[in-house]
Amino acid sequence: MAFVSLSGVDKDYALGATAVRALRGIDLEIARGEFMAVWGPSGSGKTSLLNLIGLLDKPTRGSVHLEGERVDRLPDARLARTRARHIGIVFQSFNLVPVLDACENVMLPLQIAGQGARAAREIALRRLDQVGLGEHCARRPDQLSGGQRQRVAIARALAASPGLVIADEPTANLDSETSLAIVELMRELNRRDGVTFLFSTHDPRLLERVDRRVHLQDGRIIAEPA
Ligand SMILES: Nc1ncnc2c1ncn2[C@@H]1O[C@H](COP(=O)(O)OP(=O)(O)O)[C@@H](O)[C@H]1O
Ligand SMILES: [Mg+2]
Repeated sequence: MAFVSLSGVDKDYALGATAVRALRGIDLEIARGEFMAVWGPSGSGKTSLLNLIGLLDKPTRGSVHLEGERVDRLPDARLARTRARHIGIVFQSFNLVPVLDACENVMLPLQIAGQGARAAREIALRRLDQVGLGEHCARRPDQLSGGQRQRVAIARALAASPGLVIADEPTANLDSETSLAIVELMRELNRRDGVTFLFSTHDPRLLERVDRRVHLQDGRIIAEPA
């Protein structure tokens, strides 16, 4: 069974009196353990697609299933709980809380989920260790480089042990060497722990590192030679 599947999905946005169709007729299945990327020009629907797969948004038409359960009709509160349990999210601009140190940033989603501080700190330390930042627990984001901040964000995304991590252009604010290192890190976490990763990018060098590419154009998936 697919981990996530989208079937016949359209996404429209209201824009004044008209509607913009951002995604059209999307059929996509993602299996556990995949390492894949979405690419395509600006405006092709990458962010819209990742938001649907990440359960951050709902389709206008069509269905989204997570581990066989239809989730696109769930009330928002249940959708949020399902998302918190299964999906980690990494943002282009890192989105770390500036007044919290690296450890506290990683602890935050665990504590919101009801985990006690001591257990949350232990998990946070382990996650920071996994992304190569075990020594940097007490640093605030402004005391870390861009690449290190994105590693903290990846550690945070992994905190609750999600099956899937989605990352919308996670390297857009990083230089090309740092970008490659971030993709290598995601690859290592994918290989070692079986975490499914789906990220979007414009960078052909990063696309070379994935097992599967989804090419979007004008809101449709276009077939590519395997
Ligand atoms: N909130 C929104 N309201 C109206 N139009 C939107 C909104 N978000 C995205 N769009 C439009 O949907 C299309 C796809 O956008 P997006 O998913 O952001 O593509 P990408 O991430 O590939 O640049 C674009 O035409 C964009 O202008
Ligand atoms: Mg985008």
